[in-house]
Amino acid sequence: MTNPMLNPAVGTIATDEGYVAYNPGSDRLYTMNGQGALIAELCDGSRSVDELRALVGPLLPEGQSADVGRWIDDGIDTGLLVWADGSTGAPREFSTGELINLAIRFSEYGSGQTAIVFAKRATEVNPEDPNAWHALGRAAGTAGLHDLRRDAYEKYLNCGVEDPVIFHQLAALRGDSPPRMPDDCVRMTFDNFSPVYDKRMRDQLSYQAPERLQDLIRSEMGDAAGLEILDIGCGTGLVGIGLKGWAAGMTGIDLSPKMIELARERGIYDRLEVAEIVDWLGQAQGQFDLIASCDCLIYFGDLGPVASGAARRLKPGGLFGFSVERGERYPFELTPSGRYTHHPEHVREVAKQAGLIVVRLEEGFLRNELGLPVTGLYALLRKPGDA
Ligand SMILES: C[S@@+](CC[C@H](N)C(=O)[O-])C[C@H]1O[C@@H](n2cnc3c(N)ncnc32)[C@H](O)[C@@H]1O
Repeated sequence: MTNPMLNPAVGTIATDEGYVAYNPGSDRLYTMNGQGALIAELCDGSRSVDELRALVGPLLPEGQSADVGRWIDDGIDTGLLVWADGSTGAPREFSTGELINLAIRFSEYGSGQTAIVFAKRATEVNPEDPNAWHALGRAAGTAGLHDLRRDAYEKYLNCGVEDPVIFHQLAALRGDSPPRMPDDCVRMTFDNFSPVYDKRMRDQLSYQAPERLQDLIRSEMGDAAGLEILDIGCGTGLVGIGLKGWAAGMTGIDLSPKMIELARERGIYDRLEVAEIVDWLGQAQGQFDLIASCDCLIYFGDLGPVASGAARRLKPGGLFGFSVERGERYPFELTPSGRYTHHPEHVREVAKQAGLIVVRLEEGFLRNELGLPVTGLYALLRKPGDA
C-alpha cells in the first residue's frame, strides 16, 4: 500500500476550528477539527499510515492513536484522501474567483458560516477585489453577523464601487434612518430581483400577503365589481391578479421598469407607469375606489406622505388597503434587512393626519425570511363620505 495524500482536486482553507476542504469535482464539503486538520496537513504522500500514526498518536488523548488509521480510511472512502502512488504534493489553492463563487453558493444555500470561510479567504487572497468584500458581507448577512457584514460592506464601498443598494444597507447597519429607501436603490434591487421574483416569493418565502390583503378588503366590501383600482408598488402584478375581477379599470405604478415589464406581460392592468409613489400620488389626476399596496410600504419609514397622497386620490368612501412589517419600535425602524418595520400606532396616527378612518388593522403572516415567519400588519383605511 502506498502513502495517503490529500486529493489534489480538494482545496483547503484553515479556520479557527481546523480546516474546511471542498472538492469542486464531487461538490463535497469536508469540515475538520484541529486533529483532522493536523492529520490532513501531514498527508502529503511522503508518509505511510504507520508513520502518520507514530507522529500524530502521541498528540491524541490516551488510547486514541488507532483513530488515525480510521480517520485515513474514512478520508479515502469519502474522497478527501487518495493513495499517493509515489507522488507528493501540496494542497490545491482556490483562486479568488472560485472562493467568491463558493461563498455566493453557500450563502444561497443558507450556509452562512461556510460561506464566510470562503469569502474571508477571498478577501485575504485579494483584498483589492470588491467582489470578495461583497461576498463576505452577504455571507455575514446570511449568518446574522451584522458587525462583520457592516465592516465587509464598508470595505466593499472603499474599493470605489458605486452601489446604491449596499449604500442603503450600510445606512441600515449603522442605525441611520433615511426617510425611505432611495429610488436608485429600489430600482436596482427590483430590476435585479425581477427575473426570479415570483418564484422566489411564492416557492421559497411562502409569500401570502396578496391573498391576505384581498381577504381583508373583501371582508369590508364583499366581492365588488366595476371599481377603479390603483396598485401602488405593483411589482410583477401578484396583487393585481386577485383584484382584476373587481376592476373596471386597473392602474399599476412601480419604480422598477423590469417589474413593470413583467406586470405588463400578465395583461391585467389597463395602465402601467414607472413612477415613484409619493410623486405620482401628488401629481396624477383621477380618483380611485380602491388603492392597494402589498409588501411595498416596507420601503418607507414615515408612512405619512403615502397616506396623505392616497387620501387625495381616493373617492369619498374609497378604501386604502396595505401591508407592512409589524415592528415593536415606535414609530418605525429601518432594520438590518434594509426594510422598515412599523408600529401599529404609527399607522393609526398617519391615517388620522390624512383624514382616513382605520377600518381594520390586523396582524398576520406575510412571508418567511431566513426560514422564520415575518409578521405583518394588514391595514384597511377608508376616506369618509358616501361611495
Ligand atoms: C416586494 S415588491 C411587492 C410587489 C407586489 N406588490 C407584490 O405584492 O408582489 C415591492 C415593490 O415596490 C416597489 N417600490 C418600492 N418603493 C417604491 C417607491 N418609492 N415608488 C414606487 N415603487 C416602489 C418596488 O419596485 C417593488 O416592485
